[in-house]
Amino acid sequence: MKVFVAGGAGYVGSKLVPALLDRGHEVIVYDLYLYGSDIFGTYHTHENLQEIQADIRNIDRVKESLKGCDTVIHLACISNDPSFELNPSLGKSINLDAFEPFVLAAKACGVSRFIYASSSSVYGIKEEANVTEEMSLEPLTDYSRFKAECEKILFSHMDPSFTCCVLRPATVCGYAPRQRLDVVVNIMTNLAYNTGHIKVMGGNQLRPNIHIDDMVRAYLHVLSVPAEKIQGETFNVGYDNHPVLELGKIVQRVVGNKRNVDLEIIPSNDNRSYHVSSKKIAEQLGFTPEHTIEDAVESLLEAFEGRKLDNPLENMYYFNIKRMKSVHLQ
Ligand SMILES: NC(=O)c1ccc[n+]([C@@H]2O[C@H](COP(=O)([O-])OP(=O)(O)OC[C@H]3O[C@@H](n4cnc5c(N)ncnc54)[C@H](O)[C@@H]3O)[C@@H](O)[C@H]2O)c1
Repeated sequence: MKVFVAGGAGYVGSKLVPALLDRGHEVIVYDLYLYGSDIFGTYHTHENLQEIQADIRNIDRVKESLKGCDTVIHLACISNDPSFELNPSLGKSINLDAFEPFVLAAKACGVSRFIYASSSSVYGIKEEANVTEEMSLEPLTDYSRFKAECEKILFSHMDPSFTCCVLRPATVCGYAPRQRLDVVVNIMTNLAYNTGHIKVMGGNQLRPNIHIDDMVRAYLHVLSVPAEKIQGETFNVGYDNHPVLELGKIVQRVVGNKRNVDLEIIPSNDNRSYHVSSKKIAEQLGFTPEHTIEDAVESLLEAFEGRKLDNPLENMYYFNIKRMKSVHLQ
């Protein structure tokens, strides 16, 4: 396959793109490289990789770059709610306004499969024990609202020659060459290892997480299954839902093998509790996660021990908000 990965130089893309190349696919990464340009290491010179540093809002460039591609994985985004709130019109222009022109361009170029990275945050807060895909969407932020709108837009353009599928990932965790340290498990592991102190806000609210290697496996999986299994379908993709306090305790235990870690509980008014069911993707597509939260924490621990992460408490490249503040993207 020739796979166009929009946002492929981000956290998830930095592990997905090498995995696609390893499986023999041709890959075009189309990305602004907001979080650095040296993302792919030795894969940078891979004969099947083409990297295009450009904006998803530049529709002429998108059309030109899509030529010959049969598959799109759309990851490009101003990710994470607070960074999105930095400049709402910027976020809207990338996360919503650019979406339909991109979908139409892909369709016109003969792309036959379009996979969109939505988010499990589209559900908002639900009382139900298991939040499944057919439940109503009650997004709480612009980020989640625009994800929900893009899902609808995508499905409005599907037809028998244009297979459309939405994944709603849980929060991703673990080490990747483009590291994010602003997502819950990674935040805690960074603090545990580098300060010896974790602060847990609240503690009882549930958070679904997924190991980055399982997230990569999920994208590879939806590329490999027959079109009729994913056409018009939406899948939650998560591992277990853990209370935040339990995540903190896992981090404390794993990092505790290397150093002493205190855990402090701080009252929080962020009561968002997500308890997302990933049964559908298991039953319909046969996809189940293989990696635990412990594995993700260990991968980060190994990265810290191996000094793979430069100045992890301060380096703005690991924190989307800090980085977005500095780039002054319009
Ligand atoms: N990481 C998570 O926990 C998580 C959870 C749920 C959903 N998602 C979704 O999965 C996708 C990938 O997440 P991630 O963690 O890798 O995010 P990320 O922020 O690391 O990567 C996003 C990439 O998009 C690029 N980008 C941003 N604006 C662009 C533009 N205008 N034109 C071209 N490229 C642009 C950035 O340079 C970056 O490389 C996102 O859509 C995100 O919303 C992620």
